[in-house]
Amino acid sequence: MVVITEDISLGKEKVKVSVVNELDDSIPTEFGYTPVCISGPNVSEAFNSPFYPGCGCHQTMCTRDKCPCIQSYGPSYNEDGCLQIFNRLTEFCQPVFECNSRCSCSKSCQNRVVQNGQHLQLQVFKTKLKGWGLRTLENIKKFTFVCEYAGELISIKEAKMRAQELTHETGNYLIVLREHSSNVNQILRTHVDAHFHGGASRFINHSCNPNLVMVPVRVDSIVPQLALFAARNIDIGEELSFDYSGEFDHWHSHEIKVEVHELKSLQEQGKEPKSCQCGALNCRGYLPFDSSLYSSESHLPIRPGNS
Ligand SMILES: C[S@@+](CC[C@H](N)C(=O)[O-])C[C@H]1O[C@@H](n2cnc3c(N)ncnc32)[C@H](O)[C@@H]1O
Ligand SMILES: [Zn+2]
Ligand SMILES: [Zn+2]
Ligand SMILES: [Zn+2]
Repeated sequence: MVVITEDISLGKEKVKVSVVNELDDSIPTEFGYTPVCISGPNVSEAFNSPFYPGCGCHQTMCTRDKCPCIQSYGPSYNEDGCLQIFNRLTEFCQPVFECNSRCSCSKSCQNRVVQNGQHLQLQVFKTKLKGWGLRTLENIKKFTFVCEYAGELISIKEAKMRAQELTHETGNYLIVLREHSSNVNQILRTHVDAHFHGGASRFINHSCNPNLVMVPVRVDSIVPQLALFAARNIDIGEELSFDYSGEFDHWHSHEIKVEVHELKSLQEQGKEPKSCQCGALNCRGYLPFDSSLYSSESHLPIRPGNS
């Protein structure tokens, strides 16, 4: 096994992220490592400035009965820091708001998880069929935070431009997260592209039966962080994967198919979706893509990352 680098994050993560290749002589193409999202073209840095009121809890741990941050939506994490937002009966899940920079609680408050960053030992490795991938060097318990999908936060206009430029040879690092909000009957979209700048998560491949789930988590900003949590217990050495379709409203209830009309709209642009090599029994055959990025429809600017 050839170790290409001991730490691709160059010290930017709390734990090193090594890169190895057991298959050939190739090395990953260059990119700028960032552990958190940065603003892309024409997206103001203000996307990350304090937006929510904070709590005045003076004890180290915010508690369910006293902390307004937790009371608004219910506790998002249990005492082990594992996500607990999925209601098995309704299959709906509550939004996650962590304590933020205006809160007076300590940095070790139970309601601060994603903002504390990656803490698991992860490794970039060369896969047989999907280019580079990311695996875990330790066992991961279900609902543990693994890493954030970090990259450039871009507008839909920029996302459409970048989608047009994609070829089968250039990997697609653009993730569109869609949050379905029932009370405002609106879909909030967040576009993150990890092609030029990104974290270890940019190496995570798609699977139609993934072991991670992407959850929007808000700390200071109205723009969510795209946090990846273990969807089940994951064994040491397993490749990490998530579903690129980016639908977030239900737990385990979305069955996204590449619809025939969506395929047609892509083919009309002279493009074919990439075939999926995830190997899952329920494999849909193609990598998901967001058909709206290939249409000329305009979207109302709602907020940074959504305009
Ligand atoms: C976010 S990148 C993942 C890292 C990438 N494998 C690399 O080498 O840098 C997404 C790209 O990886 C490849 N990929 C991801 N999941 C795949 C899958 N299930 N089957 C085939 N290729 C996949 C595709 O080229 C896709 O555009
Ligand atoms: Zn707190
Ligand atoms: Zn708080
Ligand atoms: Zn698949």
